[in-house]
This record gives sequence, C-alpha cells and structure tokens, in this order.
Amino acid sequence: MPLTAYDLTGRTALITGAASGIGRATALLLAEAGASVHCADLDAKGAEQTSADIRDHGGRAQPRALDVSDRAQVAAAVAESVRADGRLDIMANIAGIMHRSTVLDTSDADLDRVLAVNFKGVLYGCQEAARAMIAQGSGGSIVTMTSGAIDTGAPELLCYGAAKAAVYQLTKTLATEVGRHGIRVNAVAPGWIRTPMTDRHIGDGQEAAARTMAQCSPLGRVGEPQDIAHAVLHLASDASAFTTGQLLRPNGGVQMPW
Ligand SMILES: NC(=O)c1ccc[n+]([C@@H]2O[C@H](COP(=O)([O-])OP(=O)(O)OC[C@H]3O[C@@H](n4cnc5c(N)ncnc54)[C@H](O)[C@@H]3O)[C@@H](O)[C@H]2O)c1
Repeated sequence: MPLTAYDLTGRTALITGAASGIGRATALLLAEAGASVHCADLDAKGAEQTSADIRDHGGRAQPRALDVSDRAQVAAAVAESVRADGRLDIMANIAGIMHRSTVLDTSDADLDRVLAVNFKGVLYGCQEAARAMIAQGSGGSIVTMTSGAIDTGAPELLCYGAAKAAVYQLTKTLATEVGRHGIRVNAVAPGWIRTPMTDRHIGDGQEAAARTMAQCSPLGRVGEPQDIAHAVLHLASDASAFTTGQLLRPNGGVQMPW
C-alpha cells in the first residue's frame, strides 16, 4: 500500500471532542495528513486552541462550539463544514463522557445523560454526515469511538458500557446501509488511554492504574491519545478502502482487567 493512501489533502474532516485527549490528537494528526479539520467540542475554548495549534503548524482548521447531544447543533455543524469547504469526507465521532455508578444506584438522569452524549450524539453525527456524503456523491468515511468496556463486565460502568455497545451496533448497521454510496463506517475500541478523562475519573490513583495497565499489556506500556489518533487516520484514509463495519481495538493487547 503506497503511503499516499494516508494522504488526506483535499479532504474535509469534522471531529467531535476535538478540544481534549483522543479527539485533539486526532484533529492534529488528520490536519498533518493534509485534511481541512473542523474541530468541534462543547468546550469552545479548547476547540479554538486545537484549531490555533493546527494553524500554527501550517494546517487548515476551524473551531466549532457544539453539544453533540443536540441534534439541531450537530446538523448545523455538518452544514457549516460543508458550506466552508464545499464537502465533507470524514466524520470522526469522538466526543464522550464517563460516568460511574453501580447498577443499583443508577438513576434515570444518569442513564439519560450518558446515552444522550455517548449514543445519541454519535447517532446524530452519523446521520447528518451520511446524509451530506450521500448528497455529495463521492463516498466518505465515518468513524465512531466505542470502548474496550463493551467486552467486559466492569463495575460502575453500566451506562457507559451500554452506550458504547449501542455505538458498535450503530456502526455495523449503518455500514450495511450506506456502503452502496461508497461510505465506510468503522469503530475504534480503545483500551485504557491516558487522557484528561481517565485523569478525572481515576484521580490520585492514575499512576498506580497506569502501572497496572502497563503490566497487563504485552507491550509493557499504557496507551496515549496518539495511538488512537493513528487508528482513526487509518480508518479515515484510503488505506482502509476495503474496510467497513469493523471494530479496531488499539488496546496494547490487553482488555480492561476488572
Ligand atoms: N481515555 C480512554 O481510556 C478511553 C477508552 C475508550 C474509549 N474512550 C472514548 O474516547 C473518546 C474520547 O475520550 P478522551 O479520553 O479523549 O476524553 P476527554 O475527556 O479528554 O475528551 C472528551 C471530549 O469530549 C468533549 N465533550 C463531552 N461532552 C460533549 C458534548 N456533549 N458535545 C461535544 N463535546 C463533548 C469534552 O469537552 C472533551 O473535549 C470518548 O468517546 C471516550 O469514551 C476513551
């Protein structure tokens, strides 16, 4: 496979969750590969920072304030990206939240919020991007972010794991429906990645958790956001032209050891 398969020059990408962690690393990498990147996030300042960092390195980027749980906002973000660049080739649905509660303590409000961001937010992104790509008529690549949490029972991760399992189902189903338009849909299921999300939820135990995860991996280290960004680049680019409906597991060879 020639390296030009990873060249995204002339392509436009909309990336949610681009202010932080995996989304930010993905925005930087796709811009480095040549894409015009629309950096969307609830954290408008963070999205602006990612865009500014891309432009400082000679790339093309625009920030977008976006709450993915609001269908109208997602539709507007897709429309604005298409209006700005005349096209949309890549949609990376990376925004997400973590929530911890035991099954017995899970409230309707907990479940509604996590599903609204982690599942409905991805559904809206997939629907709006697929509609734009079908209208455009030149195919495209949609990437979703699920999690190794879909493979295991994990204490206190019911809402999160359920939403991520639903995202995997969405990915497979959509892939069967839009393949005839040349649109590919694939999911990434990271293992434990050191990001602000894991920092917030593990807190003071972050270093101990990192050591445990590193010991569980045949590679002897924990994951970094760039590891996942490269998986997204692969799925977004022509390097994966015959890949759709699939789940890529960049997890250092280890499932989450609960
Ligand atoms: N870090 C991990 O170990 C890990 C593992 C598996 C999957 N993931 C998934 O990867 C994705 C990125 O996670 P991360 O670790 O980089 O987290 P992060 O907290 O560093 O980044 C998440 C980003 O999503 C944004 N966001 C949250 N709610 C939003 C909303 N309603 N609308 C728009 N943006 C919103 C946040 O502002 C933030 O910038 C998430 O979907 C997460 O579930 C992470």
